[in-house]
Amino acid sequence: MEKRNIKVGISNDHSAVELKNSVMKHLQEEGYEVINYGTDSTESYDYPLAATALAKGIQNKEVDLGIAICGTGVGISIACNKHKGIRACCCSEATSARLTREHNDANIICFGARIISTELANDIADTFLSTPFSNGERHKKRIAMIHEIEQ
Ligand code: RB5
Repeated sequence: MEKRNIKVGISNDHSAVELKNSVMKHLQEEGYEVINYGTDSTESYDYPLAATALAKGIQNKEVDLGIAICGTGVGISIACNKHKGIRACCCSEATSARLTREHNDANIICFGARIISTELANDIADTFLSTPFSNGERHKKRIAMIHEIEQ
């Protein structure tokens, strides 16, 4: 999909304000439209709230894909995955970001502001957003099985 056709949501807790701002600026420079669902304050902000705001943005089709950042990326990914239709992957390298789009049709990528550098975060975000779902039958079947579990 063309960058201009992809709307990206980004969300974060208090530990990830700086990284969120860097990634958001990078993606805007790359031509993406980015909606900020996270906190802009370094006052304590619970990551489940940041996850829910982004998940709702995807469920309501305000955005196509999302990026969620907390200290480790783990808490926010667990919270994202509690929402229907959300397939969130927490990772610290670009290969997983590519494969989770190709195989899992993941709609949120998560990483940790206390774990990875800004350059790596940009790389992971770029890879995630530019990789399409492979549309393979075996992958579609497995994703349908995940949706069954959700019911
Ligand atoms: C907040 O201090 C921290 O617990 C949170 O950002 C995240 O790392 C949880 O998984």
